Amino acid sequence: MNDDWWRNAVVYQVYPRSFADGNGDGVGDLPGARERLPYLAWLGVDAIWLSPFYTSPLHDGGYDVADYRDVDPRFGTLHDFDLLVRDAHELGIRVIVDIVPNHSSNEHPWFKEGRRDWYIFRDRPNDWESVFGGPAWTQVEDGQWYLHLFDPTQPDLNWENPAVRAEFRDILRFWLDRGVDGFRIDVAHGMIKADGLPDAGTNDGRQIEMLGRGRLPYFDQDGVHQIYREWRPILDEYGAIGVAEAWVESPQRLARYIGPDELHQAFNFDFLLADFDAKSFRAVIDKSLAEADLVGAPTTWVLSNHDKHRHVTRYGSLARAKAATLLMLALPGSAYLYNGEELGLDEVLDLPDELREDPAFKRTGESRDGCRVPIPWTEDAWTRPWLPIPARWMAITADKQEADPDSTLNFYREALRLRHELSGLLVWCEAPDGVLHFRRGRHHVFVNISEQDTPITGKVLLASGPLNAGALPPDTALWSAE
Ligand code: NOJ
Repeated sequence: MNDDWWRNAVVYQVYPRSFADGNGDGVGDLPGARERLPYLAWLGVDAIWLSPFYTSPLHDGGYDVADYRDVDPRFGTLHDFDLLVRDAHELGIRVIVDIVPNHSSNEHPWFKEGRRDWYIFRDRPNDWESVFGGPAWTQVEDGQWYLHLFDPTQPDLNWENPAVRAEFRDILRFWLDRGVDGFRIDVAHGMIKADGLPDAGTNDGRQIEMLGRGRLPYFDQDGVHQIYREWRPILDEYGAIGVAEAWVESPQRLARYIGPDELHQAFNFDFLLADFDAKSFRAVIDKSLAEADLVGAPTTWVLSNHDKHRHVTRYGSLARAKAATLLMLALPGSAYLYNGEELGLDEVLDLPDELREDPAFKRTGESRDGCRVPIPWTEDAWTRPWLPIPARWMAITADKQEADPDSTLNFYREALRLRHELSGLLVWCEAPDGVLHFRRGRHHVFVNISEQDTPITGKVLLASGPLNAGALPPDTALWSAE
């Protein structure tokens, strides 16, 4: 297999709990995901990224790990995992797994056994705030406090302790030995905290707003790079990749995570955060391509994931979402899809509060549950799904869409097929206000975010919606060839 596969791969994010249910208990699992691999091969993805399926009390959807070397019984067994990897590889699909090194669950034996030097315990808290709202410190019975940058059930690990480092190097090997092709590193910017844990200087609930903008004493500290320099030789030994989930203040800071002695890729969240507007898309694309040049590695693109409202809802319509998707899939670099986006699923905004599980919901009123609703494969694919599936999705189940050549699903499939033909540098062409037009080799890409129809050139290969007498209507994108 080609070592550079990740440079322009389409990676499909599987959120195991919601993807596919193999045993009918209402919770998605690894056998369910395995059964859907032929669908993913048919769709044309190059790799899957599995969100955590490890032993966990699921206080943060599995990003609270209680055993880094086992599968939670709700998701299956290690044997199920091995079968999934085997089948994926047979279908030519690579497998990336999540690794969650910044924090464990408070139900991890390390925490329960009271290994305080594996965590960050202090006699007094500082002013740091949890990303999920409220103080980042919780007091234990003897009066000490422990740090948790996320939920109190997710104590931060102490990466100054060499035993923690050695343990994670071993965890990497555990999964590499089982055949994984890479890791998505959760909170990759978080493991090292500023010396002496200095106050951030504000504790008015707004530290979170500085995420990705200013520097905080608990994120993006220089010391974190040493960890990746220790990991890289291990990844190289197995030909595996590392993808950073890092929220940092500038492309230059993000670039530091990538390179021949650190990680292969980092998520580029600016694209996901951009408004549906030609100027913002163009600015993000230019900035991201410049950043890619800086590190000699292509950037990543993502529009939806398990932490953000689905892009159909963010942009206000399926037409806009499909146009943005066609734009994303035409860009140089790799693209990450989130399970269900190929069906055109929207955000489920009206979940009853008592069913919401996101720990951030109680603290901030904001919840990520609406993008984690189980995937509607067929009208009766789920019995008692862990979150209710909206009735409106019954019209867009995967089986119905597979059979309909004009469905969103077949649109994604065609885009992934044609994407292989797109290569070469992106060159902008002159276009009316509100229209993006670029070339890659002999291919043209148009995105119309203006209020009028716009002319196009070339032979049409794929459009995100109907044309109007040969012109591209608003909120529509198109690929053509000379
Ligand atoms: C980022 C993950 O994507 C998110 O779901 C999780 O809550 C936090 N990291 C904490 O692990």
